[in-house]
Amino acid sequence: MTDTWIRQDERTWLQKLACAVIKQGPVPRHVAFIMDGNRRFATSRHIDRAQGHLMGFDKLTETLEWCLDLGIREVTVYAFSIENFKRSAEEVDCLMELAKKKFALLLAEKDKLMHHGVCVRIIGNSSLLSPELQQLVSDVVIATAGNRKSILNVCMPYTSRDEITHAVRQLATETAAGVINPSEIDENAISSRLHTHLSPDPELLIRTSGECRLSDFLLWQTSNSVLSFVRVLWPDFSIWHLLA
Ligand code: FPP
Repeated sequence: MTDTWIRQDERTWLQKLACAVIKQGPVPRHVAFIMDGNRRFATSRHIDRAQGHLMGFDKLTETLEWCLDLGIREVTVYAFSIENFKRSAEEVDCLMELAKKKFALLLAEKDKLMHHGVCVRIIGNSSLLSPELQQLVSDVVIATAGNRKSILNVCMPYTSRDEITHAVRQLATETAAGVINPSEIDENAISSRLHTHLSPDPELLIRTSGECRLSDFLLWQTSNSVLSFVRVLWPDFSIWHLLA
């Protein structure tokens, strides 16, 4: 395992060739991932859950490197659902500790991020995070806000229903204050109040683990996206699955 967000190119010559061929055609501008199957992977390998999630993080960094090379400008990942708070305290703590460790690493690797022009955004209800994690993610967001070459949106803690509820509440407040007229509430008015308002909708959403559902992820934003459900657990996701 490599403890970094920005990996060295580890692809084989055949994988590089395949990427070069794919890049000749149209490449999606924005791809979203539901990184599902870390626990089933851990069970299948007889390792503990924490190790499964760590390998899930490792796979994320590999995937980001592939996307960067393919010219996919924006990547959005479902790192923690608000529903995940219902898991055991031990597992929630483990995922939060992982996030703390990895966002601290991201800050330590700031120079590499600046070099690659990566802007990191945290999408979701950050008030549900501990004050320490809120501070850390806000430091990451501020440090990379000016970068424009590629964008990584980390959704945590996130659900679409929470995001849409937040947007509707904001519109209601603005309507009551007379800032916006009810007749002006259209799709654009809603989109511009979602946490994802800075991003174009993803052209492609990939979910691993064989589950064929969206689990409250980007419901509004994927109404026209191609949905790809891959029958592989997230830590086993390979560049060939992405290229396919
Ligand atoms: C779903 O698999 C995965 C998660 C709930 C966590 C995903 C998190 C990572 C890959 C690490 C990302 C970390 C950072 C800091 C961005 P699951 O646990 O639901 O597994 P299962 O479907 O087999 O039960």
